[in-house]
Amino acid sequence: MTGNVEIRESTPGDIVAIESLYPQGFPDEDLLPLVRDLLAELSATLSLVGITESSLIGHVLFTKCRVAERSGQAALLGPLVVAPAWQRRGIGAALVNAGIGRLKDAGVSQIFVLGDPAYYGRLGFRPESLVTPPYELPPEWRHAWQSQSLNITANPLSGKLLLPRPWLQSALWTP
Ligand SMILES: CC(C)(COP(=O)(O)OP(=O)(O)OC[C@H]1O[C@@H](n2cnc3c(N)ncnc32)[C@H](O)[C@@H]1OP(=O)(O)O)[C@@H](O)C(=O)NCCC(=O)NCCS
Repeated sequence: MTGNVEIRESTPGDIVAIESLYPQGFPDEDLLPLVRDLLAELSATLSLVGITESSLIGHVLFTKCRVAERSGQAALLGPLVVAPAWQRRGIGAALVNAGIGRLKDAGVSQIFVLGDPAYYGRLGFRPESLVTPPYELPPEWRHAWQSQSLNITANPLSGKLLLPRPWLQSALWTP
């Protein structure tokens, strides 16, 4: 719990509320097709929500993936959204940290994210150069590609991230 906010895995009954969050958090970007496609891939995703007594106020998705067919298990974080009225209360951090804890327990060794280093750096993410995203990033976005290792004894992953189909759209990886 973060204050009176519960973090739990989403259920099918949450989907309408999850879908209403994204236009609020991303007014200039339509992430709903991606979110819907990822939520349909239940075996490949971890979907967590933040719930107050009356409403769903945050959501994060993690997509399980690998770097090579036989590499250790990895995950990609995103998207992450918190309702504007609930931002800056630690809910984004609580969603990310809850996901990291669950994925670590499930044997995931490294989590990747494309996002603002000023935010994700505070959550333990560092610039990533050994593993590359599925599409080449423009120079101004390269510093936004980051990762966090969950298993210090695992060999560092190296190569291109192998992601399921919803992420294989170049528009998601270019400004
Ligand atoms: C980014 C987001 C998920 C953070 O959620 P949150 O619950 O407000 O985050 P937290 O409370 O854990 O952390 C808030 C802190 O991060 C900072 N922060 C939030 N977004 C930031 C950003 N893009 N860059 C740098 N710092 C950021 C805030 O300033 C705040 O710090 P402060 O209180 O010391 O000033 C939320 O602002 C949001 O939904 N934004 C719109 C969607 C979005 O940009 N998602 C991220 C896509 S990768």
